[in-house]
Amino acid sequence: MSSRRDFMGMALGGFTLAGGVGALYAMKRTWDPLPSVKAAGFSTVDLTSCITGEVRIEKWRGKPIFVLKKTADMPEHERDVVVGSDRYHVSIALCTHLGCIPAYKKADKKFFCACHGGEFDTAGTNLPGLPPPSPLEIPPFKIDGTTLVLGEEGPEYLEMKKNNLIA
Ligand code: FES
Repeated sequence: MSSRRDFMGMALGGFTLAGGVGALYAMKRTWDPLPSVKAAGFSTVDLTSCITGEVRIEKWRGKPIFVLKKTADMPEHERDVVVGSDRYHVSIALCTHLGCIPAYKKADKKFFCACHGGEFDTAGTNLPGLPPPSPLEIPPFKIDGTTLVLGEEGPEYLEMKKNNLIA
C-alpha cells in the first residue's frame, strides 16, 4: 500500500516539476524580446562598399545615420572612426538645433541644415555663430573588421565617450 502511495507521490512530484519547468520556459519566452526586436537593436554597414568623399545614409533604430568616407584632404579629427588606413565620419543625421536632417554638400565638404542655416564640418562639428549648439551626435558603434556595427559600444566608441567627443 505504502509503495503504491510512494509511486503516486513520485509521479505527482514529477508531473508538477515538469509543469513548473514548462511554465518557467513559457514565461521566459514571453519576457524575452522577439527576434525582430533584438535585430532592430543594431545595424551593420559594410565599410568596403563606401565611396571616398561620399556620404551614405544608413538607418539605426529608425534614425538616419551619416557615414562619410573621408578624403585625404579632409582634416583628421579625434571624432573620426579609423579603420585601417581609412577615416570615416559617423553621426546621427539629425541637426542638434531642432532635429532637421542636414544635407551633405560635397563641393563645400560640409553638412548644411536648411531649417535655420546650421552648418557642420566633416567631423560633424557645428560651425560657430550658427543655431546648432553642439556637434552631430555619434551613435554607439563597434568596428568588427571592415564592418561598422551601429548600436554596440566598442572600444573606439568608449574612448570617444570618455573624452566627451560623442556629442
Ligand atoms: Fe538645423 Fe535649426 S534645425 S539649424
